[in-house]
Amino acid sequence: EKGNYRHFMQKEIYEQPTVVAQTLASYLRRSDNSVALPQMDFDLSAVRRLTIVACGTSFYAGMVAKYWFEQFARVPVDIDVASEFRYREPVLEEGGLALFISQSGETADTLAALRHCKAHGQTIAVVVNVPTSSMAREADLLLPTHAGPEIGVASTKAFTCQLAVLAALAAHMAVKKGRLTREQEAEIVHHLLEAPAALNAALDHDDDIAAMAHLVAPARDVLYLGRGQDYPLALEGALKLKEISYIHAEGYAAGEMKHGPIALIDDAVPVVVIAPSGPLFEKTVSNMEEVRARGGQVVLISDAKGLEEAGEGCIATIEMPVVHPLIAPLVYAIPVQLLAYHVAVVKGTDVDQPRNLAKSVTVE
Ligand code: F6R
Repeated sequence: EKGNYRHFMQKEIYEQPTVVAQTLASYLRRSDNSVALPQMDFDLSAVRRLTIVACGTSFYAGMVAKYWFEQFARVPVDIDVASEFRYREPVLEEGGLALFISQSGETADTLAALRHCKAHGQTIAVVVNVPTSSMAREADLLLPTHAGPEIGVASTKAFTCQLAVLAALAAHMAVKKGRLTREQEAEIVHHLLEAPAALNAALDHDDDIAAMAHLVAPARDVLYLGRGQDYPLALEGALKLKEISYIHAEGYAAGEMKHGPIALIDDAVPVVVIAPSGPLFEKTVSNMEEVRARGGQVVLISDAKGLEEAGEGCIATIEMPVVHPLIAPLVYAIPVQLLAYHVAVVKGTDVDQPRNLAKSVTVE
């Protein structure tokens, strides 16, 4: 049931504060601000190497999580899309942990990669939204997202819930490995618990995004730029736009622009820059200036401080609440989802059932 919403995708975007809170509630203990994971019969502290495999939007959640596993747990992470992973003879050492991320739990390539890892002695952890799915059944450690059924073909709420679970897992692994003190763990949990309110604050800017969607809708190509853990958000923004509005879009690491894609820039190419203020802000802004100097039409997504510093001269700005960097990928998912959504609405495409796509990809 869509209720008061025009599309399932819109409804699911709006459900995010609630479902992320639900998901966090099952992994975080408020009483002492600690992470509480389900029982597992293997030792997380002994994990020397983590392999992450997924497809599409779930893969981008994994890319964000790579930053967290490296930063908090100091564990080496190998990440790949499932269709490549399966065919490249990955090196899987005894005692490794392999982590699969999937909304449906049925994606054929991801499932095949899971079985491959199992056959090669890896412990299998899965983050899935469908607890009765094949991946859930075949896991050693099942970490469900509690997003509820996702009907819109373009994944939205499953993504932010995956991020919530992955952040909890990374923090937990770090504690087990002795890389985080109790105080640091409590601080991380505290920031994660701020996510639902921040997601609500992000949704408050929906009208602004709807009002500027017509600036992007006529474009033939759109670029998305981000750095660090916001780089996967650029990829996700581009994927969402491609999927539902059929506009060609590319996500790029902001610093990689000058190595090629900047040649594409002219005044017909909107460039969406995802840049929360923080340690990487100045770097991203200097890449943005390179784009602007070539006539690029920048849409800047940042917080009040970032917009004040760099918003001038952009064709549009989208304001996000000020958030801790840890939860920025969850919060900045909202404007990239909403931008794709409103552009698709302007173009009149079938938002919930985009052409050529299926909700669950059970063929290889
Ligand atoms: C994008 C999208 C797809 C899925 C991908 C993986 O909006 O929905 O890219 O993310 O097909 O699906 P799951 O997560 O079910 O394995």
